[in-house]
Amino acid sequence: MEKIIVEGGKRLEGEIAVSGAKNAVLPLMAACILAHGECTLNNVPDLADVRTMAKLLQIMGAKIEFENGRMSIDSSSMNSWEAPYDLVKTMRASVLVLGPLTARFGKARVSLPGGCAIGERPIDQHLKGLAILGASIEIEEGYVEAVAPVLKGGIIPFDISTVTGTENLILSAALAEGETILLNAACEPEVSDLANALNQMGADIKGIGTDIITISGVKELSPLRDYDVMPDRIEAGTYMIAAAITRGDLLVRNCKFENMGALIGKLIEIGVRVTRESDGIRISSDGQIKSIDITTLPYPGFPTDMQAQMMTLMSTADGLSVLTETIFPQRFLHAGELRRMGADIKLVGNSAVVRGVHALSGAPTMASDLRASASLVLAALAATGKTEISRVYHLDRGYDKLDRKLETLGASIWREKE
Ligand code: EPZ
Repeated sequence: MEKIIVEGGKRLEGEIAVSGAKNAVLPLMAACILAHGECTLNNVPDLADVRTMAKLLQIMGAKIEFENGRMSIDSSSMNSWEAPYDLVKTMRASVLVLGPLTARFGKARVSLPGGCAIGERPIDQHLKGLAILGASIEIEEGYVEAVAPVLKGGIIPFDISTVTGTENLILSAALAEGETILLNAACEPEVSDLANALNQMGADIKGIGTDIITISGVKELSPLRDYDVMPDRIEAGTYMIAAAITRGDLLVRNCKFENMGALIGKLIEIGVRVTRESDGIRISSDGQIKSIDITTLPYPGFPTDMQAQMMTLMSTADGLSVLTETIFPQRFLHAGELRRMGADIKLVGNSAVVRGVHALSGAPTMASDLRASASLVLAALAATGKTEISRVYHLDRGYDKLDRKLETLGASIWREKE
């Protein structure tokens, strides 16, 4: 295992290019199950989760090549519909193969993902939707077994806005007989990206970007060709906070301003300078950061995947901030580690009360989940002295060389063997 070491206090300056979005590429890879032939994706980030999804598809018989950001997936030779526990337990997003496998093979056997550091994360909405489309669902020995010789369209009312739940049912309905309507569908940009890609493959999906999505089933889909994975808005937001917390001046390139309204709005309110430029977003700060209250909500509300990073920034703001987590109420494991660095954070139910301190101080810390590890890196950049962050495999699941990119911006950051 590796750890990251940071000598804090360096101002970040320059420009950085955002990689392809983890939460867009994973459903796109699952979509390739639905088309016989070679699919090709560009701007694919080199992440542990991407390699896990590739391994999962290969175990089921797909042929995959991946280098220099270009991935080809040929699912013609797929001959298995089982996603094994030892892979699914390392990546919850494996559940995204459940719908496509059922649609293609008429059956699927996918290990239940189990809980994770940020919460219990059930998949009842995924299963409810599949049952409405005609699948019979059994749970045994920790596996979901779905059987559906034919999937027929239906109306699926989600009880809660679920990103991968919406994606799984869009993938399931694309080849179903008749029309499927998703009610209370998730509107995240990554969901829209998947729907647009499926339409490029010949699907018939309407209402993209809204909470009512209509899918008219088609007979077959053609392979996705030369599709560019959208930029990662969470990676972009992480760099923006890195610039703000180090009083830096940073151009974050090829990110979409229109996908980041909630975060940009909050950064402006706390006194960070945000300017839209032709090829990205410029962030600069003089270090005067006002406190502010944040509540995480489904898109276009403030993203839960930016809550940990914002908590770090609020730890050095002037005054008291309340961060309320409505998506994953237990998503506060980073608070304890930030306290070790001198942050003043009290957890009250699903809120964190953060009183800004003058400065954080370096300390040995431990990552617990993907975004928590990013929040520790941000804290280390601003802290006085040296910080060690162990278990950085969490970081590598969702960030493509974050430490290397930060080093090009002036951070004193490196890796060592644990
Ligand atoms: C996706 O997870 C993202 N992952 C998460 O990003 C992100 O935090 C989350 O959406 C919310 O935006 C991917 O896209 C691969 P949900 P997902 O289903 O789909 C409850 C990251 O750091 N729920 O939208 O698993 C659930 O417990 C990761 O990149 C049910 O109750 O999240 C949660 O409270 C972390 N039943 C809420 O809905 C279900 O069947 C939203 O979860 C499904 C979800």
